[in-house]
Amino acid sequence: MPKPKFHILVCTTTRPPGNPRGSCGQKSSQDIIPAFYQEMEEKMLFGQILITESSCLGPCGMGPTVVVYPDGVWYKGVTPADTKEIIEEHIVNGKPVERLIVPEEMWG
Ligand code: FES
Repeated sequence: MPKPKFHILVCTTTRPPGNPRGSCGQKSSQDIIPAFYQEMEEKMLFGQILITESSCLGPCGMGPTVVVYPDGVWYKGVTPADTKEIIEEHIVNGKPVERLIVPEEMWG
């Protein structure tokens, strides 16, 4: 197995309805994973990207949260439809998708 160039973490934590923290799973973050695989297949990027389901990454209220390493870019509110742009712009072209980046203020 070749060492992946990118590691994409997708939070799939689900909390019970009414939990004040909310969760990515409540916003169907599980659907993001097959969408990433489909984009990866279309771009023939197998072996270059590792996609991992993750527990809570922190910015729950902004989720679904996705993190791309080694760049350390944190994305918020990601939907399956956004995976095409993340793969094409960030992974292939090296330009993170600005409109989806978790704002700096988040990190206080
Ligand atoms: S539940 Fe996804 S970041 Fe916390």
